Amino acid sequence: MIKPKSVEEVIETARIEEVVQDFVNLKRRGVNMIGLCPFHAEKTPSFTVSPSKGFYKCFGCGKGGDAVNFIMELEHMDFPEAIRYLAKKYGIQLEETEVSQEVREEQQYKESLYLVNEYAKQYFQDQLFLTDVGKSVGLHYFKERGFREEVIKKFGLGFAPDKKDAFTLKATHDGYNLDLLKKLGLTSQYGRDFFRNRVMFAIHNLSGKVIGFGGRILVKDVKAPKYINTPETDIYNKSKVLYGAFFAKRGIRQEDECILVEGYTDVLSLHQAGIENVVASSGTSLTVEQIRLIKRYTENIKILYDGDLAGVKAALRGMGMVLEQGLNVKIVLLPEGEDPDSYLQKVGTEAFREYITQEAKDFIMFQAGLLQEEAAGDPVKKAKLIKDIVDSIAKIPDPLKRSLYVRECARIMEVEEQLLVNEANKVVAYNFKKGQQEKERERLKEEAPQPGDTFPAPPVQPREKQPSAGDEFQEKDIIRILIAGGEKVFDAEQNISVAQYILSNIEDVMDNFDNKLYGQVARSCHERLLAQEPVDTNYFLNHSGQEIRQLAINLLSTPYEYSENWEKRWDIFLSSQKMPDENFVKDSTQALKRFKLKKLNKMIRQNAEKIKKLFEEKSGDYMVYLKLDQKLKAMRNQLAEELGTVVL
Ligand code: CTP
Ligand code: MN
Repeated sequence: MIKPKSVEEVIETARIEEVVQDFVNLKRRGVNMIGLCPFHAEKTPSFTVSPSKGFYKCFGCGKGGDAVNFIMELEHMDFPEAIRYLAKKYGIQLEETEVSQEVREEQQYKESLYLVNEYAKQYFQDQLFLTDVGKSVGLHYFKERGFREEVIKKFGLGFAPDKKDAFTLKATHDGYNLDLLKKLGLTSQYGRDFFRNRVMFAIHNLSGKVIGFGGRILVKDVKAPKYINTPETDIYNKSKVLYGAFFAKRGIRQEDECILVEGYTDVLSLHQAGIENVVASSGTSLTVEQIRLIKRYTENIKILYDGDLAGVKAALRGMGMVLEQGLNVKIVLLPEGEDPDSYLQKVGTEAFREYITQEAKDFIMFQAGLLQEEAAGDPVKKAKLIKDIVDSIAKIPDPLKRSLYVRECARIMEVEEQLLVNEANKVVAYNFKKGQQEKERERLKEEAPQPGDTFPAPPVQPREKQPSAGDEFQEKDIIRILIAGGEKVFDAEQNISVAQYILSNIEDVMDNFDNKLYGQVARSCHERLLAQEPVDTNYFLNHSGQEIRQLAINLLSTPYEYSENWEKRWDIFLSSQKMPDENFVKDSTQALKRFKLKKLNKMIRQNAEKIKKLFEEKSGDYMVYLKLDQKLKAMRNQLAEELGTVVL
């Protein structure tokens, strides 16, 4: 741990403009400095640094903070890492509190592994550039494939000679511990070099340290594998690494997109062509850790697939995870027989760029189109296809995006949209329920339940006066249904309750209730569901919060006899008869739609304000929000149409 006094020293010494200037070109503008924001793509500068106040602020994306925040945000470091970074920049000696012997030994052990790998990388590079055989075999090979020297150097490519233990002997002679060489997979159990007669690719972690290697064979040999890679070690875990990530970080952030390819050479080729936001999964299917790694930098991923349909279909099956993580996935299918490297070298940078822009298809649409072709004229296949698509859509955490996809897919697959909506909502609710059960299991594992343990009621805040033109009526309708029929069956087959259905579909706007009390009820229902407690009328009638109790009584005792005017005026579904049990399904579906319609309208208004603001600031970014505006309005109109409401 760094001592607080050292932390203070760093914070006092670091000058915001100096820290930022290492990454951003700043120009004076009065007392402030201004430049292009490193956190989002922009063409006119809206990123401002105030040397006197010691902070930065981007008026485009809203990010802001002091020097430490800047480094944390930009380099994805935690606080101590950022402090260490700044201390290094300013040559400040940090004083540390004592760490335990064990921790220190672990740190030293890892540091020495990195050191040895760095040594090995240098060795392979020297072999490539300085030895006759390296030059004539290795370097020749890379150049033949079109790689320029600056890229070869940047990525730490090298050559391992065809000798049984040349590397191991040199390393031990230079004082490196044989045990560590073995621990790193560089030397076999019997003291032989692991990589022999191969061109070498150093694999870096996010901070640029060498954690492992891949070695490619130079001849076509059916028996030996084309690539061999460092085995799992204490610093190399294949499933957590994306090749090229260290060099792609900045590009990904700038483009707000990560291009995913399969191979080492694909990364090199694209990078060399100036497409720097590219990483490789190294031939395996994506893991959750890799997806999370990408997500630290962007939510948009574009996957380039070799043009082999069977392979692509197999790969698509593994995409659920990516959707679950909330990433927007685009797919580019390359022409038959080409991989990104070969295709780029064939058609050149310009044509390649154009291809991957033009041909990029949204993942779900791509899947829908692909399967649609396959299932044409076969009703059984088609039913299965609908299920597959619905499963994919249901994995998307954002309900707004889900509805967009449902519309598009219904169009592509030529099915009733309402059918897809219903199916998708059911799967969403089902997944939600499964999630609850898993959480519950974990909770039970963690804490043994105490007899008489009850769910604590949330503190009730005094109700504020609300402007009546808000979304209160729709919110009230939702709450009424939760209170009156939360525990009723929504879908018998999947055993989903009305409360589960509603709450799983409004999770995203849970904090956006206009009416505080209604919001509170929704959130406490949500928590109860997560804790596997029933959401039924009695819970509300006996609630410890007086206001909630009163609300429940009011809502339950109001006969649903409003005048027609109310329905028109407040845009609310009011059945004039008492609700028979069978009505809960229809009732909650409708109420949900009306609620969403209101929230959509609100988003449209907020977005319009944003557009206006950006426009006035002359920021080019407003185009993005204009597009969003169109999308939101299309969704709104669709919903309105379903509800038979006229939107002006
Ligand atoms: N790979 C591997 N082991 C193998 C084959 C492949 O680890 N035996 C990994 C490598 O990371 C490789 C990636 O899978 O880069 C993709 O494999 P492939 O498409 O066969 O190779 P390319 O990257 O296209 O390599 P090259 O262009 O040199 O043939
Ligand atoms: Mn290739």
